[in-house]
Amino acid sequence: AISVAVVGATGAVGVEIRDCLEKSGLNLATVRLLASKRSAGQTVPFGNGTLVIEELTDDSFRGIDYALFSAGSGVSKEFAPKAVAAGAIVIDNSSAFRMDAAIPLVVPEVNQDVIPAQPGIIANPNCVAIIATVPLAPLNARHTIRRLNIATYQAASGAGAAAMEELRLSTAAYLAGEHYEPRVLKHPYAFNVFSHNAAVNPETGYNGEEEKVIEETRKIMCRPDLLISITCVRVPVLRAHSMAVTVEFEHAVSPEEVRAILKDAPGVRIVDELEANHFPMPNEASGQGDVLVGRIRRDVGDPSGRSIALFLAGDQLLKGAALNAVQILQRLVG
Ligand code: HSE
Repeated sequence: AISVAVVGATGAVGVEIRDCLEKSGLNLATVRLLASKRSAGQTVPFGNGTLVIEELTDDSFRGIDYALFSAGSGVSKEFAPKAVAAGAIVIDNSSAFRMDAAIPLVVPEVNQDVIPAQPGIIANPNCVAIIATVPLAPLNARHTIRRLNIATYQAASGAGAAAMEELRLSTAAYLAGEHYEPRVLKHPYAFNVFSHNAAVNPETGYNGEEEKVIEETRKIMCRPDLLISITCVRVPVLRAHSMAVTVEFEHAVSPEEVRAILKDAPGVRIVDELEANHFPMPNEASGQGDVLVGRIRRDVGDPSGRSIALFLAGDQLLKGAALNAVQILQRLVG
């Protein structure tokens, strides 16, 4: 049996980690739910009983084997080293350590071989990087990818529980003809799209989310040379990210070959039913663990036959965050 701590247990991802742990089948001796002082003392259901949220302190990790962090980079930078010093393996969902060369960045379906067994930090990637690499890594393993061009449609959940609430409240206010002053996102969210879901780097014009996805995708796929262009956009969807991806391979690859590889790829479900007009959608991706892949077609913009277009959708809170972290834990426990 293992002892697990969840840091940020009351946040959007923390709540999902609790749920994934309950469903994981792991033999849990202790589950310690940690959060800020503000949330401490709350009683929440867990398994057949309840647990009390505890305040995160320097002593929180005594006797803990595995600590799952989902509370933001600042908390991770301060407390993850303390958890490791106390003997725990940390699975960190923030961006604090992802690009550290000494820290593995893990999507179990893609690179579980890099998971170390000794105490230390394992980084859970950015949600877009996870959802993209689940189908793209097996394609790259068979036919080397030269270049990716990605446009995302990212849900409110990626900006946290408060942004999900802002989507609900601002939509209700809009429909009631009332004014809603944005509190979490900088601009009106209901019935809108933001082409700027993170601060834009003035030197490159790319936003922080786009830069993260480029770097992390290269690291996860062990392809530092991979050419990637991406536009990351926030849309008024609750919890699943979608993306349009154009994949340019080193040589010509047919849509049938792509479909055959993806059919057997772990974590991928092909949703590509022409007659039913049924393709990946964020509401179908929500609440389940697979990355849905469809609209698989030859890219007519590249007459060489080397490029394939795809559309993906995956639950940002599950495979894009909590589920991936718990799957790493399951691999660690064996
Ligand atoms: N940065 C992501 C987003 C979520 O804004 O949607 C975290 O991976």
